[in-house]
Amino acid sequence: MSFLELAKKRYSVREFSDKLIDRNDIQKMILAADLAPSAQKINPWKFIAIDDKNLKLELCKRAFKTPFVNSFVKNAPTIIVACSKINILTHRIFGKIQGLEYHLLDMGASIQNIILEASDLGIGSCWIGWFNEKEIKKLLQIPKNYKVVSLVALGYEKNEENKKIKNLDKKISEIKTKKIILFNKFE
Ligand SMILES: Cc1cc2nc3c(=O)[nH]c(=O)nc-3n(C[C@H](O)[C@H](O)[C@H](O)COP(=O)(O)O)c2cc1C
Repeated sequence: MSFLELAKKRYSVREFSDKLIDRNDIQKMILAADLAPSAQKINPWKFIAIDDKNLKLELCKRAFKTPFVNSFVKNAPTIIVACSKINILTHRIFGKIQGLEYHLLDMGASIQNIILEASDLGIGSCWIGWFNEKEIKKLLQIPKNYKVVSLVALGYEKNEENKKIKNLDKKISEIKTKKIILFNKFE
């Protein structure tokens, strides 16, 4: 499969079957994450894979307190909690000068690798950015110098017939008509 085919194949999955995910596959996703580029090669990440059902349910109970929002996550057989080290001196110094949060850029790249590797393995995923960080840190005893940046809900899609097919030709014309791509000048 070409990279573009893989990128096209991926979409957010929010309905999962009961089929469990093999830990070897989780390992492959974390390997993909660790291969991501990182500013100054700091690789600030740690990933906690939650596949114990009771712990997962407790995590979801505490993490999602806004009614209805992200309530589907509890049905994912595995949840990855993506954490970033935040007190990296050089990241902080250069980040302040540049006005960029380098650890967040690093984390975005690594999480993208996780969900693309999942897709390549035929596993559905949904990137989750709305959660109660404080509660998660307390439950999982995550140290103060780490930030929970995102969660990733993982599982096999419940109804295979719901598979979304993205139209690459439409996308190609969109990058032109919506001026997502610009050459030589911002216009
Ligand atoms: C940083 C980030 C945070 C997100 N947070 C959530 C979330 O909390 N809940 C959710 O259902 N989807 C979340 N998503 C998934 C987006 O809604 C989804 O990627 C977008 O609608 C595009 O759809 P697609 O992934 O199917 O292409 C998030 C995605 C990103 C990149």
